[in-house]
Amino acid sequence: MRQAGSGVTGEERVRAIVAEHRTRPGPLLPVLHALQHEFGRIDAAAVRTVADELNLSRADVHGVVSFYSDFRSDPVEAVHVRVCRGEACQALGAEQLYDAATDAAGGDVSVEQVFCFGNCALGPTVEVNGRLRGRTGPQDLAAAIAAARTAS
Ligand code: FES
Repeated sequence: MRQAGSGVTGEERVRAIVAEHRTRPGPLLPVLHALQHEFGRIDAAAVRTVADELNLSRADVHGVVSFYSDFRSDPVEAVHVRVCRGEACQALGAEQLYDAATDAAGGDVSVEQVFCFGNCALGPTVEVNGRLRGRTGPQDLAAAIAAARTAS
């Protein structure tokens, strides 16, 4: 687990994040979103700590992490692209976008498919390093990947 800085271990930071959300109704999803935001992924050690803190089984926590595409267990590359392949985006050219993304994959770019960002009216939709982009064509995607490389 990543060190959180200031001498605080990753496990201590995970426990602190759980404590921040513990009193909310249904604290698991807010905790997982906070962990994903802070660490960029939710690894097995974090799953174990969250399960312990919320008195859940590891299987329960892992099941939620693996069900939702917003959560990742593995580290991602410097540039992470998520392409929507939902029906509305498919009708607007998502396959060309997905092909362009997979052509760019490798090295510092990882690609994942998603089935709806809720941005259907502005498709095809892609997300590059957490930033959602609508009405995106292959050239727009290439420019977004180049910009993300520069920023990282
Ligand atoms: S189908 Fe692509 S955002 Fe909904």
